[in-house]
Amino acid sequence: MSFYENRILPWLIDVGCGTSPIMKQRAKVVPGASGAVLEIGMGSGHNLAFYDPAQVDLVWGLEPSAGMRRRAEPRLRTSPVPVRWLDLPGERVPLEDDSVDTVVLTYTLCTIPDWSAALRQMRRVLKPEGRLLFCEHGAAPDPQVRAWQARINPGWRRLCGGCNLDRDIPGLLAQGGFEIDRLETGYIPGTPRIAAFNYWGSARATG
Ligand SMILES: C[S@@+](CC[C@H](N)C(=O)[O-])C[C@H]1O[C@@H](n2cnc3c(N)ncnc32)[C@H](O)[C@@H]1O
Repeated sequence: MSFYENRILPWLIDVGCGTSPIMKQRAKVVPGASGAVLEIGMGSGHNLAFYDPAQVDLVWGLEPSAGMRRRAEPRLRTSPVPVRWLDLPGERVPLEDDSVDTVVLTYTLCTIPDWSAALRQMRRVLKPEGRLLFCEHGAAPDPQVRAWQARINPGWRRLCGGCNLDRDIPGLLAQGGFEIDRLETGYIPGTPRIAAFNYWGSARATG
């Protein structure tokens, strides 16, 4: 692994994902988690402060990057809920079928290479009545912003650890076997428009 991937990228993601508009987005989604939680791509642990200890028993923090796990350590020490690391990618969730009440997915579906396999894993581990809570940036509705997203995406992806600016988040969730029961969208403030269009809400596995 290069110095960039191990040290610089985790710092960049930590700072980029910790801006005030993004933290406000987390506050709209994460407090809804309950029971046994699986967080996919937990990164540097920015969501931890938003879990309600009265509702959450345990968070499985799945994060394949050692650099990101290292950056999360200070937040783990002050976490209001217990956390156990899973140092694997979302395509390989090592939990039992029907074992999780909530899957939390924030700013990660943009990055997972095989998003279809990862969503299959999330469906597999979710209990039938379980919920997926998500908040992701993705494809913007405005043609001009969308064109810039397409132009910039190849360089952005290389710089930002595989992150894509233009994924169709509701489309991917539907193709992955999730039915969205709450969806809100909008450009978040104080963020370049190419990365500002957010999708957030909740979904259930179909069938
Ligand atoms: C932009 S960061 C978001 C981190 C965190 N979810 C947050 O909200 O701050 C994307 C994260 O996805 C992780 N990631 C990359 N490939 C992954 C994969 N295949 N499965 C799960 N997570 C992955 C990265 O290591 C990184 O921590």
